[in-house]
Amino acid sequence: MIYAANFKTNHTRKSTELYLNELTDKITGKKSEDRIYIFPPSTALDIYEGVFKIGAQNAYACANGAYTGEIGLEQLDEFDIKTILIGHSERREYMRESQDQVAQKFSFFQEHEFEIIYCIGEPLHIREKGFEAVMQYLLAQFEGIDIGYKNLIVAYEPIWAIGTGRSATIEEISNTHRALKKAINNKPLLYGGSAKPANIKEITTIAGVDGVLVGSASLDASSFAEMILA
Ligand code: PGA
Repeated sequence: MIYAANFKTNHTRKSTELYLNELTDKITGKKSEDRIYIFPPSTALDIYEGVFKIGAQNAYACANGAYTGEIGLEQLDEFDIKTILIGHSERREYMRESQDQVAQKFSFFQEHEFEIIYCIGEPLHIREKGFEAVMQYLLAQFEGIDIGYKNLIVAYEPIWAIGTGRSATIEEISNTHRALKKAINNKPLLYGGSAKPANIKEITTIAGVDGVLVGSASLDASSFAEMILA
């Protein structure tokens, strides 16, 4: 299973270091095939030793240049970061990242052989229209994306389940993952959206779920460790 922690705009450099030490201690008994990813805020990026991979929540599609407020490849290379989240719904929504921009970013980091966790997800009004509308919406988020890319992991995150405490139902996850797995040629597929210790077991036993992308419940090392060891 893949367990990915997305800190979003939480934690500092100091608290990230403490977190990683605590997590390392707590997950010594994890299964050897489990893969752990941590996405701290960019100010906390560094070279850390441990059983996890550190990734960037975002970066600009450039090596370096005049892009005020952004970081590029050069800043990631400094810490040997080779993993990135692209297409998260919060960036699509709040930062107004268009599908074109998302695809451009994807191509850039693909060229540089990053492992990409590519996020897709539908808003509530689309989910309410039914399964066909959901799939149409989700598949449109693969426009310009090379789904044959060898270092691709997809994360399905229904927007209405993110940070709301209300995860999608087993049936919703199961149906959506089954259809998505076909569309992405069986690439690893994570579920995200209010995954937490209380529901991790039932989510990870659904066919077509290869892991989880966790926000809120990953912020505390004990809670995330509990999910990994569940
Ligand atoms: P959540 O966030 O676990 O707080 O719902 C998930 C995500 O946005 O990746």
